[in-house]
Amino acid sequence: MPKKIEKIAVLTSGGDAPGMNAAIRAVVRTCAYHNVECYGVYQGYEGLIEGDFEILNARSVKGIINKGGTFLKSARSQKFRTKEGRQQAYDNLIKANIDGLVVIGGDGSFTGAMIFNQEFEFPVMGIPGTIDNDIVGTTHTLGFDTALNTVVDAIDKIRDTASSHNRLFFIEVMGRDVGHIALNTGIAGGAEEILIPEEDLGLDRLVDSLNRSRKSGKSSSIVIVAEGDKIGKNIFELKDFIDENMEGYDVRVSVLGHMQRGGAPSCFDRVLASRMGVKAVESLLEGETNYMVGLINSKMELTPLEKAIKGKTKINLELLRVSDIMST
Ligand code: F6P
Repeated sequence: MPKKIEKIAVLTSGGDAPGMNAAIRAVVRTCAYHNVECYGVYQGYEGLIEGDFEILNARSVKGIINKGGTFLKSARSQKFRTKEGRQQAYDNLIKANIDGLVVIGGDGSFTGAMIFNQEFEFPVMGIPGTIDNDIVGTTHTLGFDTALNTVVDAIDKIRDTASSHNRLFFIEVMGRDVGHIALNTGIAGGAEEILIPEEDLGLDRLVDSLNRSRKSGKSSSIVIVAEGDKIGKNIFELKDFIDENMEGYDVRVSVLGHMQRGGAPSCFDRVLASRMGVKAVESLLEGETNYMVGLINSKMELTPLEKAIKGKTKINLELLRVSDIMST
């Protein structure tokens, strides 16, 4: 029989994502509902190492469901990558009689949680929070939906200028290793081409596509480029390439950057965060450990952390085809 869990700590780690506050709120309130004491840890794993955590009750998390970022703050802790750092974190948890940990973050944060669990058999549960949607075991990570809406809003605005000035815009969106944001927002924003890391379409295809659209009477175009795209040129070099090799284009570049990670979470992300928080705490209380909660076929399911980290999310090939047809 696993030891009964009576005190749970929650932290946010890695890049922030809209919906993290809503997830913290859900963890804290689920603990309160089950009469379990809940601790909020500041600055991700750094706070565990420094002993920077405090008790949160149901009222401590009022008024945050609609706020972007994370009030617990986040960090990519270097110290937690060391055995000494993790030992210090463990000692602090034991001193405070905390016996379960919820980690809200991405793959780097889950790797830390998994190693921590293996070394100390400390019960851990992950909640996937990253705008990139690059984690196996959930169709949606927290923040992905909000980021999509933010990006589409930005593309719509840029399109006004693109069409007023007959310009070609390259717009860079986030997605370090994956093209989920690019592919979805490219379709929703009516992009001419979408360049993603999973597919090296090559420059010829881009040139063909621009020529085709010009012939078909288009006077302005938007090309969405995922930051991790492997076409071999960064977005500014792409502009230079078009300037040098194609006549008659007035090209501009817009890098959306961190504005994609901010802002109030969408309704979808708030509901997802609430469901994930409940599932994470109740799974720990049921004796489950070393899992991540996720949305699969509209249900909350558990996936081993190892699988969540090591797996590679696949790009939706149907979306690629839809995008091709739409840019006709
Ligand atoms: O992983 C989320 C993410 O937003 C990536 O899309 C991006 O490459 C990275 O974080 C940026 O990280 P930082 O905020 O540390 O620059």
